[in-house]
Formats: sequence, structure tokens, C-alpha cells
Amino acid sequence: MKRPIEIVPSVLPADFSRLGEECVALEAAGVDRIQWDVMDGNFVPNLTFGPDVIAACREHVDVMFEAHLMVANPDEMLPNYVAAGCQMLIVHVETTTHLHRTLGQIRELGCSPAAALNPSTPLDSVASVLDMLDMVLVMTVNPGFGGQAYINTMESKVSSLRELIDDGGYDVDIEVDGGISASTISGAAAAGANVLVSGSALYKYQEGLAFGVQDLRRLAADAQSG
Ligand code: DX5
Repeated sequence: MKRPIEIVPSVLPADFSRLGEECVALEAAGVDRIQWDVMDGNFVPNLTFGPDVIAACREHVDVMFEAHLMVANPDEMLPNYVAAGCQMLIVHVETTTHLHRTLGQIRELGCSPAAALNPSTPLDSVASVLDMLDMVLVMTVNPGFGGQAYINTMESKVSSLRELIDDGGYDVDIEVDGGISASTISGAAAAGANVLVSGSALYKYQEGLAFGVQDLRRLAADAQSG
């Protein structure tokens, strides 16, 4: 069964001095959700924003927010991101000692749990918790910065994960994040990803965000249909 294609902007390339307006523009462009790249300068060598910035933007739009928690100790602040208005929390398996417990805490907070895997992290790290997840994020760059080159060897990891999920009868989306553009999105979607995050490539469309969202969605849907 084909899972619906979702086009998700990263806000990293957005104008941080106007984030509320930027969210309005993204929603108007037809994105399916907005990804907040939360970075703590510890787990990744970059520092972005916390729950208060997300909360300030929440009132401007209705579109779903997901927080990509690239932080060393996600457990401590899970409730803050939910209170800020995020409907999904993505924790990196590399940052959680007790992943099963963390995912359960996210669900208990009424939020959708997702787990992210860095390029070198094996699929085995989520194999035992697929029943607790709504989505697995397969990173197609090493986290920390936008505008990096797509790591195409991750496509086999996406395909293996899709097989693992489907064979187990789980209802889990696969997201990819990093270097997703018009030239890479087809490979990721054909491999089995159905939620596709794009930052720099989406913002680079001369025709504007709405055109970019439509173009990326068309390319991904065509690739998914094979
Ligand atoms: C990595 C970031 C980026 C961002 C998207 O830490 O999470 O992957 O979302 O970046 P682009 O689309 O510019 O590669």
C-alpha cells in the first residue's frame, strides 16, 4: 500500500527575523507540516531555537509542527515542545538511553512519537520499538546544517526499513531529511520514503515556495508509482 507523500519544509533557510510570517508563507504554499530543526550545540555543532520560538509561531498557522530534536538530552524538555504546539516529536536514537521509555512518554503527552537515525546508525536500533513509532527519520546528511550533500547510500537503508515495517505489519511512515531536492527526491521516494524534508532546495526555487512544493510532490509521487 502506497503511503501518502508529504512535503515538509525545514525552517533553517527561513528568515529568522520573521519566522511567524515565514510559517504563514509555508502554509500558504501547501506544505503538509513544518519541521523545526532544534539544535543544542552539543549533540550537533550548531545552535538554533527552543520551544518558546516554536510557541510564538504556533498561533500564526494551523499546519502540523514536528520538532526534530537534535539535542543531547531530549527527555528533559519533551513536555515543553508539546506545550509549544508540536504534534510530533522526533528523538535521535543516539541521544536516548531508554528509547522505549522516551517514546512512551511522548505518546503519554498526547504527541506522535518518531525516531531519527544518523547515517551511521543501524536499523536494528529501532527494530524493537516499531510498534511504538508513527515515523522513522532516516537522515540523509549528518545533522547540524542545511545545504549539505545528499548521502545516496542511505537509499538502501530506507528500502530495508520499509521492508522491515511492512513485513511486521506496522503503520509507520519513513521520513528523509538532508539534501532533498528535485534531483534527489525521486531516489528517496522510490526507496520507500514518503515524508520528505527539504530546506535549502525548496527555498531556492525561483518560481517560489508553492511551485517548489508542487514540483517536489510530483517528483516524489511519480517515483513512488515507479
Ligand atoms: C540537518 C538539518 C537539515 C535540514 C534540511 O541537521 O535537519 O537536514 O533539515 O536541510 P537541506 O534540505 O537544506 O539539506
